[in-house]
Amino acid sequence: MARNKVTVIGAGNVGATTAQRIAEAGLADVVLVDIVEGLPQGKGLDLAEAAPVVGHDSRVIGTNDYAETAGSDVVVVTSGLARQPGMSRDDLLAKNAGIVRSVVLAAAQHSPDAVLIVVTNPLDAMCHVALQASGFPRERVLGMAGVLDSARFRTFIAEELGVSVEDTNAFVLGGHGDTMVPLSRYSTVSGIPITELLSSDRVRALEERTANGGAEVVALLKTGSAFYAPAASAFEMVDAILRDRKRVLPCAVYLQGEFHTRDLFVGVPAILGRRGLERVLEIELTADEQAAFDRSAAAVRELVDKLG
Ligand code: APR
Repeated sequence: MARNKVTVIGAGNVGATTAQRIAEAGLADVVLVDIVEGLPQGKGLDLAEAAPVVGHDSRVIGTNDYAETAGSDVVVVTSGLARQPGMSRDDLLAKNAGIVRSVVLAAAQHSPDAVLIVVTNPLDAMCHVALQASGFPRERVLGMAGVLDSARFRTFIAEELGVSVEDTNAFVLGGHGDTMVPLSRYSTVSGIPITELLSSDRVRALEERTANGGAEVVALLKTGSAFYAPAASAFEMVDAILRDRKRVLPCAVYLQGEFHTRDLFVGVPAILGRRGLERVLEIELTADEQAAFDRSAAAVRELVDKLG
């Protein structure tokens, strides 16, 4: 069987950590790409030299040349500027749009059948840029946000209740921004909705911490943004796709009428398989939830409109 090939664009914190996870899981050969000369080559070599110790046979290389990415099954886009303290995701809009457009154009040319996973922020708007630049169908352009936001929510639920993270489940819908919609009704501990286990005040506090999860890490780090949890989340999507697992993961998807939303990337529960998006799992939201979803979608629409 041919080996899987994954290109990770951006050899920074998120990109290199994602490459490491993919390689160490033996999931695919990895090509790490960056605009800075030497950076992807150095990290690629370093990761390759870890292989004998870790015990995997994935090949890892770094390059500045997209020709080496040819025929990738999945392309993960992490290139861009990371958020600095006091900088909102939205401040990054124009700068990162230019970067994402150029890297997706180059990557799509060399891997016309790949599934694209966008990680660069502001996430939902960058997905639009990637969809346009690639010309790919919506099934093959997905954004990584919901897995991360849900992971943060799960972390806080587990901590609050003193239970294993493994027994927690959380759903966060909407855009990857301050208006994201943590759905507590569907967030559970071994199937028990957290609304049955926690007071509404505590639930609200955890939801708020989740919505501010990215900013909380930025405020602590001061010189960069989160990357361990984002990389783990991107890896989970790559794994679901390459192993055709039909995982149900919250992802940014280009909606075509689902959740009363059209022509917009917003986070929704999606079934992921070898072809990328297999199906959006639509659920009936309460009036309040739909209103929150609509507010979140409107915030995404505003950014997309700014891109022109
Ligand atoms: N082509 C390729 N790589 C680029 C380009 C480009 N045009 N422009 C920038 N890069 C590279 C940078 O050289 C850098 O190595 O993207 C990398 C980004 O890495 P970091 O600065 O470490 O940022 P990181 O923490 O990895 O975050 C990347 O993911 O979670 C999001 O908000 C985050 O948008 C940010 C992205």
